[in-house]
Formats: sequence, C-alpha cells, structure tokens
Amino acid sequence: MSSRLLLRAASLAVLAFVLAIYQDPSRINFHAPPPIHGSRDVLHSAQIINVTAALGPESLAFDPSGRGPYAGVADGRILRWEEDGLGWSEFAITSSQREKCVRPFAPEMEHVCGRPLGLRFHKKTGDLYIADAYFGLRVVGPNGGLASPLLTHVEGHPLLFTNDMDIDEDKDLIYFTDSSTTFYRRQFMSAALSGDRTGRLLKYNISSKEVTVLLKDIAFANGVALSKDRSFLLVAETTKSRVLRLWLHGPNAGNVDVFAELPGFPDNIRRNQKEEFWVALHSKKGVISNLVVSKPWAGTTLLKLPLSFKQLHYILVGGKAHATAIKLGEDGRILEVLEDCEGKSLKFISEVEENNGKLWIGSVLMPFIGIYNLH
Ligand SMILES: *[C@@H]1O[C@H](CO)[C@@H](O)[C@H](O)[C@H]1NC(C)=O
Repeated sequence: MSSRLLLRAASLAVLAFVLAIYQDPSRINFHAPPPIHGSRDVLHSAQIINVTAALGPESLAFDPSGRGPYAGVADGRILRWEEDGLGWSEFAITSSQREKCVRPFAPEMEHVCGRPLGLRFHKKTGDLYIADAYFGLRVVGPNGGLASPLLTHVEGHPLLFTNDMDIDEDKDLIYFTDSSTTFYRRQFMSAALSGDRTGRLLKYNISSKEVTVLLKDIAFANGVALSKDRSFLLVAETTKSRVLRLWLHGPNAGNVDVFAELPGFPDNIRRNQKEEFWVALHSKKGVISNLVVSKPWAGTTLLKLPLSFKQLHYILVGGKAHATAIKLGEDGRILEVLEDCEGKSLKFISEVEENNGKLWIGSVLMPFIGIYNLH
C-alpha cells in the first residue's frame, strides 16, 4: 500500500471514529480524559465574579500597591476590579480605533480592537506591560488609558499571536511568547490541530528596544514565567502538553530541557512567593485529543470536516468541561492538582495567580474570574 493510500485510509478511520462519537457522546467514555491521581476536586467552591458585559479574562495581574486584579478581555479592554463593591472599571485599551468594538465577543474584530492576553506589572515603575495577540508588546502607565506600542514586528514580520510574558526588572528585559508565525489568535484551533510548530520564545530589551529569538519551533508557545533567582525561564508548549525550561544563568546557561510533562494543555504559568509555579490547563488530554494534536494528519483531517468551533473544541477538550490547576515545584515535580472535575463553577481556565492566600483564576472563554481560598 502506498503511504498516501495508507494516510487516506487512516484519515477515514478517524473520520468514522469522530462521527461515531457524534452519534452519542455520552456512550464513549474513553473520550473523556482519565482522572489525575491525587487530584482534589475542590475548585467548584471558588467564588465567581462576573466580568460585566465582557468575557475571556485570560490573564490577571495586581499592581504594585496590590490593587486589582486587572484583566484583559475579549473586546480588547483591560479592566480593573475595584474594592468596596464598585465592580469593574475600564483601565486601558490597546487600540485607538474602537468605534466598532462594541460586542463582548467578536473574533473577526480582534485585529482592530486588540486582544490583550499576558499582563505583567513592572513593580518599580508601576507600568503595565501587555502582550496583545495582534499588537505585540504594549505598555501603559499607572493611570491607564491608551497603551503605547513597544514592539509590533519581529524580523520584519508582524506579530500575529503574542501570548504571554514575564519581566526581569533588574535587567529591564521582557521575555515573551509568540504562539505561531502562521496563525492569528482567533485561529488558535488551527494552530493546535494542524501540527503547527512555529511558536517562539523571545527576549525584548526595554532600553535598547532590541528583540532576540531565544527558542523557535515550539508547538504553540504559551505561558512564560521566570524563576525567582532568574536562573531559568519556563515556557508552556501547549500542544505537546509540557513545560520547557531554558537556563539563563549558571553552568547550563543556554540549554533547554523538559521541566514538566502535564496531563493536559498548559496555558499561562505564574510563580507564587515561594519557588512554585501554578499552571492552568485549558483542558486535560484524553485519547482523542492526544491523537489529534500528536498526529498532524489526524488534526488536519478534523479541521477539514464541517465542524463548528464548538464541536472542534468539544473534541479537543474531551467532551465534558472542567478546570484543572497544577502546582509545580522548582524542580518541575507536580506538587498539587486542584480541579473542578465537572466544570460546576470553572472551566477552560487560562491562568492561576496566587495572591494573599487566594488563587485568582482567569479563563480565555468564560465571562468570569474565580477566586479560590487556599485556607
Ligand atoms: C539592553 O540594552 C542596553 C542598551 O543598549 C545595554 O546596555 C544592556 O546591556 C542590554 N541588556 C541586556 C541584558 O542585554
């Protein structure tokens, strides 16, 4: 049999398989991701705060005085949660052309309205740095307003999918990810399913404005976090379900290794006050999602089927919505797994930020944030 024929036969098998699932999803339970040993199903008790008239608070950040969280939402605004029952206020925007940015969710307008993803405060200056998927790196002062552009192009090409960042405040360096040089953020499903390996980890020098590509060929480069002593940098490689570690200093400087293999698709990574890292999983990985992300022909076949975004997403996340937060130690060991296994309160989480004994939890798709009390 020629390899082409084999490929077609295999594609057909996938197609038949997927269609079989569509007949009755509830009957095929191996579609659902397997349970994680030692996980605690507690996140359903999280307090929910709705993001009024908005959705997709992907990344959350607190300013140097502790105010917040700040959250970038799907219509391009960056909101701030006010104490004393005042709710959310508008803090900043990344686009100056917002006349048509009136709908909470309009992916086709993201390149006009902006889509702020990773947020980080520079603790010394109080400036908020923003990784905007379509506008690259932007910065806005402590009073908010329209953010100024820092970096929109790399090696002559516009950034399409700037995703997350961390700041080395001593050296005034920003480490950030570009998830794909092929796909825009709104095409993230294609980036995940097509076998795209064009994600990059980059470094931006704030004073010289120079940009350096540190790692390339990453399968959906996503969350970024520096270690406390800045000896290494973590980057989530989403479709390979793992976190990579790039050594910045010491005897291993320049080397890359696998920091952690995860039971699902990692989004943002945030370090707590100790040397521990919270990783939010967009979802756990089941038999089918593993197949479609690890074999490009399977994912590509799936993309060719007449399936809606919702149906594709359903397949990717293994059917039932859920939330999974994983705490990694400084050596990459899994220390704790907290879940909302049934998706009763939280689902498709994108970031877990530990602050004042609480976990502040964002989601790229949901219209709310969650607050989980650790004590
Ligand atoms: C950043 O750029 C400045 C100005 O060119 C330079 O002095 C500094 O060494 C650079 N920082 C790093 C960490 O490369």
